[in-house]
Amino acid sequence: MHELAETAKALVAEGKGILAADESDGTIKKRFDSIDVESTEDNRRAYRELLFATDGAEDYISGVILFDETIRQSAADGTPFPKLLESKGVIPGIKVDKGAKPLALASDETITEGLDGLRGRLEEYRELGARFAKWRATYSIASDKPTEYCVWTNAHALARYAALCQEAGIVPIVEPEVLQDGTHTLEQSSKATGRVLQALYTELHDQRVELTGTLLKPNMVLSGYEASDRADVDEVAEATLDCFYRHVPAAVPGIVFLSGGQSDEDATAHLNAMNARGPHPWQLSFSYGRALQAPALKAWGGKPENVEAAQRAYYHRAKMNGAARTGMYAPEMEREAAAV
Ligand code: 13P
Repeated sequence: MHELAETAKALVAEGKGILAADESDGTIKKRFDSIDVESTEDNRRAYRELLFATDGAEDYISGVILFDETIRQSAADGTPFPKLLESKGVIPGIKVDKGAKPLALASDETITEGLDGLRGRLEEYRELGARFAKWRATYSIASDKPTEYCVWTNAHALARYAALCQEAGIVPIVEPEVLQDGTHTLEQSSKATGRVLQALYTELHDQRVELTGTLLKPNMVLSGYEASDRADVDEVAEATLDCFYRHVPAAVPGIVFLSGGQSDEDATAHLNAMNARGPHPWQLSFSYGRALQAPALKAWGGKPENVEAAQRAYYHRAKMNGAARTGMYAPEMEREAAAV
């Protein structure tokens, strides 16, 4: 357990957070479609190499979540990606769930699959270099959602995954994502997020998971993306902190937020506002996918001659989020970088 707690702490070291680069085949195709690039294995490999090889990103990035294909791929010089990351002091991680599928006998809710055979897969991933893992459950907000049925079945699966990870010597990141699409209010988001967290920590406790060797990857509490009167940065920071203070035990070393469709600068500003109100019982950090990658993906556009520009864009976002870890970010820092 000591090693798990040390790894969890290292992932939320001061000034650092996690890059989520574990897009499944379907998701990376969507991202590549947005820049008109074909999602071939080599394009995916080249794009991930660009990110992982970015000089200096390791000053702000503690770990990278990989996809099954990616953990088996190598840089152009033959170095396996997990080794390339380790050589920079970055901890390799792996997404192990098999995606959110329709929940039987429910209407429009999902259950995340992937428990069958997981013990064997975790053993192989550890041999390939993974020291932490991720499992994502999703929930929608509506007048009748999420149902207790959806909340508790997903909490049970998240805890089964977490227990198997700890047995395998891998830190489980538990990711219950309450989707923020729709017109809901900040209060509705807080209520749904609180219910999901309460069930999750009940199941983790009942299934003997040692919280010091885990990390939580949640949504922030936001007004729905389509709501007419959306909460501002300070309101989001306060509502999110209020919700997590009520529902997340202090034994959890870190909360690493997902960006979940926020703009890259919003995701940074929200994290910064929460850390500016610290110290808190847990480290508050990031495990962003889109909010770290969007500008880099656009700058790259699938062209080798754009690799450097894309790396500059990725480095910049990593640095901004590193600043948000200590509440030292300011929007003016975006413009300074653009001037370089
Ligand atoms: P986003 O930050 O793009 O939401 O991705 C994080 C993630 O890993 C979702 O599972």
